[in-house]
Amino acid sequence: MTEEGPIISNIKTRRSVRSYTDRPVSDKIIENIIDAGIHAPTGLGLQPWKFVVIRDKSIMKQISTYCKPRLLEQLEEADIDTAREFKKMLKSEGFDIFYNAPVLVIVLGDTKAPTVESDCAMCAQNMMLAAHSMGLGSCWIGTACFVQDNPEMLQKLMVPENYKVVAPIIFGYGDAIVAAPPRNGPDISWV
Ligand SMILES: Cc1cc2nc3c(=O)[nH]c(=O)nc-3n(C[C@H](O)[C@H](O)[C@H](O)COP(=O)(O)O)c2cc1C
Repeated sequence: MTEEGPIISNIKTRRSVRSYTDRPVSDKIIENIIDAGIHAPTGLGLQPWKFVVIRDKSIMKQISTYCKPRLLEQLEEADIDTAREFKKMLKSEGFDIFYNAPVLVIVLGDTKAPTVESDCAMCAQNMMLAAHSMGLGSCWIGTACFVQDNPEMLQKLMVPENYKVVAPIIFGYGDAIVAAPPRNGPDISWV
């Protein structure tokens, strides 16, 4: 059997973390995480991203309150188990889409770049793996992308005109071990 190196082990043990301790996350750690992000490959080498770091709980709450009903609308027709569970959570008053995490980092993408979504997604994965390697948990919160439809919030988050919200990611120290959701085996055609 081939021995798995540290990178593969890091990839396989990263989990989406949805419960955090109060332990603060320093600016230095956030900078290190973002630094790992910007080493991702990009189409045409454009590096079409910017980052917004949010620690302000009241701003996070406003985003959460705005996005919850929007996602509910979108999931209304969805008939899959995980969507049904998520709908139940979204309907509860106290549910915070950011799981009370201490930090939210939003990866913004320059809409002029032809591969902006892929570039920012690669950056985001680098960031989540880097966080994991430093003992922090993370979770990509796609629900927060609904802020894109709210000009007032975009202004508050200092999103420039030609940029869009691609990857909102929470970070913090997790307070529990998360079980790995099962993976389907890969569907490979050897041609
Ligand atoms: C594009 C994208 C959007 C996601 N949005 C959410 C979200 O809004 N809320 C959430 O709790 N998890 C979200 N997740 C996390 C997934 O639910 C999670 O990655 C998946 O269940 C697999 O678990 P794992 O990351 O622990 O391997 C998102 C993940 C991705 C890649």
